[in-house]
Amino acid sequence: MQVIFQLHVANVKKRNLRQNLKMSEIKTNEYWINLWLEGSTQFHLEKMHSSLENHLEKFIAGRKGIKIFFPLCGKTVDMKILADQGHHIVGVDVAERAFREFFADQNLEYTEEPLKNIDGKLFQAMDGRIRLYCMDIYLFTKEMEGKFNAIWDRASLVAINVEDRIKYAQLIKNLMFPDCRYIVAAMQYDINQCTGPPYSMTENDIKNLYPNCTIEEFDQHDRSYLFKHRGLNNMMEIMYLLQPKTNSETI
Ligand SMILES: C[S@@+](CC[C@H](N)C(=O)[O-])C[C@H]1O[C@@H](n2cnc3c(N)ncnc32)[C@H](O)[C@@H]1O
Repeated sequence: MQVIFQLHVANVKKRNLRQNLKMSEIKTNEYWINLWLEGSTQFHLEKMHSSLENHLEKFIAGRKGIKIFFPLCGKTVDMKILADQGHHIVGVDVAERAFREFFADQNLEYTEEPLKNIDGKLFQAMDGRIRLYCMDIYLFTKEMEGKFNAIWDRASLVAINVEDRIKYAQLIKNLMFPDCRYIVAAMQYDINQCTGPPYSMTENDIKNLYPNCTIEEFDQHDRSYLFKHRGLNNMMEIMYLLQPKTNSETI
């Protein structure tokens, strides 16, 4: 009996260790590049994100021809839709395949050129309205494209390694104009049942990353179907609008 109990304890310990290792597993740029090369891009949405479509005014706020940033953009169709509405799009993603697929899917001609002083390439639609940087997001700086009036962050902040959240938030804060409207889609689920990416993110996590921004929840979606196969019962996508506080010296 004693031996069986000890074996059981050893197995539980092994399982917990495996789970902890899994939770802290760092996803490298090669991991993402390979997902694109394998076509394992189930995160991609064929249509405009419904929160963007239904709450577009929260994002655009009546402004014309604004600069919109798409960190970790993949090949999201939202970039083309907003460019067609007269806005200027800048995206960053490390996977070149994502950009080639984007321009092919959207039937757009483009140019590509190597970046100066940084390992990466700039892909650009012929009318210059969509500029996509193929590079590590952490090397992107405001010297490259200036600041932005709006930032669309879907499957981005929640996709990065949890250890990198502060570094990522600092980069985003450097890119925000005082009138910036920043939308974050946060995935929320029980982290004891499953691990990311996408990594679970609470409203408090966002507040801690962006203390000088107001935060408003404005929409939510039940995405439980996405991770059922990984043993997760419930996963919500909660949409937040962040804006720099007016009295704040720095964002
Ligand atoms: C889950 S996907 C989301 C893509 C897009 N936001 C969407 O909604 O479809 C995350 C993207 O981040 C990119 N990525 C991950 N780490 C990156 C990094 N350090 N620098 C640039 N891109 C990165 C991946 O190549 C991938 O396309």
